[in-house]
Amino acid sequence: MQIAPSLNLPASFEEAAYKAFQWSKNYFGVAHKFASTQASSAMVQLWQWSDQMLGQQPRQLPGGVPISTTTMAVVKARYEHLLDADWQDAVAGYYPKSLLFDNPWADFVQYYPLVWADLVSISDRVTHKRFQDFAADVDTEGYPDYYVQNFHHQTNGYLSDLSASLYDLQVELLFGGSADAMRRRIIRPLVDYVARFSKFQRILDVACGTGRTLRLLRQSLPDVQLVGTDLSPAYLRKANQLLSELPGELPQLIQAPGEALPFTDNYFDALTNVFLFHELPRAVRQPVIGEMVRVTKPGGVIVICDSIQIEDSPELQESMEAFAQIFHEPYYRDYIRDDLGAYLTAAGCEVLEVTSHFMSRYTVARKS
Ligand SMILES: C[S@@+](CC[C@H](N)C(=O)[O-])C[C@H]1O[C@@H](n2cnc3c(N)ncnc32)[C@H](O)[C@@H]1O
Repeated sequence: MQIAPSLNLPASFEEAAYKAFQWSKNYFGVAHKFASTQASSAMVQLWQWSDQMLGQQPRQLPGGVPISTTTMAVVKARYEHLLDADWQDAVAGYYPKSLLFDNPWADFVQYYPLVWADLVSISDRVTHKRFQDFAADVDTEGYPDYYVQNFHHQTNGYLSDLSASLYDLQVELLFGGSADAMRRRIIRPLVDYVARFSKFQRILDVACGTGRTLRLLRQSLPDVQLVGTDLSPAYLRKANQLLSELPGELPQLIQAPGEALPFTDNYFDALTNVFLFHELPRAVRQPVIGEMVRVTKPGGVIVICDSIQIEDSPELQESMEAFAQIFHEPYYRDYIRDDLGAYLTAAGCEVLEVTSHFMSRYTVARKS
């Protein structure tokens, strides 16, 4: 494993700088959530008034779930635990400390105003309960029905360039700036279970989206051949743009469904997958895992990061159930009760570990 140069600052200072950076993103996310909720409530009140004037049924925003102080304390403790684990793994050399500060600043400056502009069409769709709403010029042909959705109220789902450009920012705002910290939790098991026993040659990231995970892998494992697949051409274009900024070999990006990966059997030393399974219906999860296992070498490792489940933090069950409705995640209620480990076992793997950090759950398995 090649480690990037340290920032050459005292460790205590670096750690304080890292945590201050994370907490500032967290406070920004909370402030954004508060301001955007106020703005959309005001907008909906105006619409309700106009609906009444026109004699129409006034539209409604779905009700939120009040978050208790106990829930807040659980969330805060989980967040602090994530930051500690992230920092410790950087100190241990699993990834360069510079990765802790990798932030898409240019995208933030360019696209944050558009996140606000998008709020109008999001509120319009939400109050009209339109969840499969796509512009006429967006090609939705050929995609599975379950995929043609405005997941988390994303305008044009995963099928437009603007959606791809706003996605990372929206995920960061949702998770209070911790999305990459959660993605980085996949690196330690990859290194522990593969690199220490054999050398990596190729890693596949299934459902790579805009390439954030490949970006983290490129910087922590610079010599490995990386391949990413996703169903969305727009997200792959964005991934290509973001990955082209990095030195080293450009990861290969291929449009492909997780259910039919275009690779021969036993091709990859390891496979990663981040935030996909909660967006798949139950009937599709086993076929996707079957494909992941098929293209991984015997002895190779599969690391899956997805949303937490009820089992990981039963105190958060009510918030998880509300998340499914408020953020339009149609398969999430089923996902939080499902067992990805059982699919991996059925496909011929041994589950090595299941852990949970902040809002994510990690399932690590080795192909027998
Ligand atoms: C929540 S995003 C996660 C993206 C990325 N892995 C990340 O960490 O941000 C889900 C991604 O899965 C992709 N996707 C959904 N269903 C898929 C399928 N059946 N096959 C391949 N990709 C799929 C979407 O296009 C989207 O990019």
